[in-house]
Amino acid sequence: MRLVLLGAPGAGKGTQCKGIVNRYHLLHLSSGDILRRERAAGTELGKKAQQYMDSGALVPDEIIIEMMAEAIKEAPPAGFILDGFPRTVNQAEALDQERNGEGQKIDAVLNLKIDDKVVAGRMTGRRSCPKCGAVYHIDNLKPRKAGVCDRDGTKLVQRSDDGPEVVAHRLETYHRQTEPLVEYYNDNGIVYDFDADRDPEEVKAAIFETLGSLVRT
Ligand code: AP5
Repeated sequence: MRLVLLGAPGAGKGTQCKGIVNRYHLLHLSSGDILRRERAAGTELGKKAQQYMDSGALVPDEIIIEMMAEAIKEAPPAGFILDGFPRTVNQAEALDQERNGEGQKIDAVLNLKIDDKVVAGRMTGRRSCPKCGAVYHIDNLKPRKAGVCDRDGTKLVQRSDDGPEVVAHRLETYHRQTEPLVEYYNDNGIVYDFDADRDPEEVKAAIFETLGSLVRT
């Protein structure tokens, strides 16, 4: 299965990917996580991406398209789920071109819908693991031990782009540059909408129901 997960910052893309990947054994490819790993490792790519990420702008298409094309090559036969990519029509066209060349079209686009007002609270409370990328929330999704990752015991951190001003810019960027992708993929009839302003387990159940019916057809 080849999936794309769309949604505004804080819609719960990373959170939902965890469950989807566990059930369907897909490779989780988060462009944001890959960029953060590159930054932490101090690579040229990470250095180039830094200024864009810190301001809430998008990293230039040419950098992202090449980075993700390389990452997708590592996908197992079961497939992959793309989280945070594509984010512009240009990126989506490049992905389609590359996938169609492999005879492997995108099967479904899962669109997590959330109101901007809900996003702010989610972002200020988010904590994530710098090692494995696991995502928590200080109120909604607490780790077993406060401030520590359940999976590997690493100290949780707050993302540098989760401050109110940068979040506002990320939302504006999302509406202007990424939301048009819903229409882009709708033309192929592969978009499935989900109300993301619900308990994470309810969102997961709705996604599983849709994916279950796709697998059966
Ligand atoms: P990226 O890392 O992709 O950030 P994002 O898309 O803004 O999304 P987030 O990771 O902030 O949110 P999420 O939807 O995954 O929510 P989460 O599950 O964590 O990108 C960062 C930057 O990298 C970009 O700004 C850009 O500069 C660059 N970049 C990345 N990809 C790019 C691309 N393709 N092109 C160009 N530039 C690119 O949940 C958020 C919080 O809410 C968590 O605390 C969670 O516990 C909580 N939560 C989740 N679900 C629920 C729920 N149902 N109820 C209550 N709380 C919930």
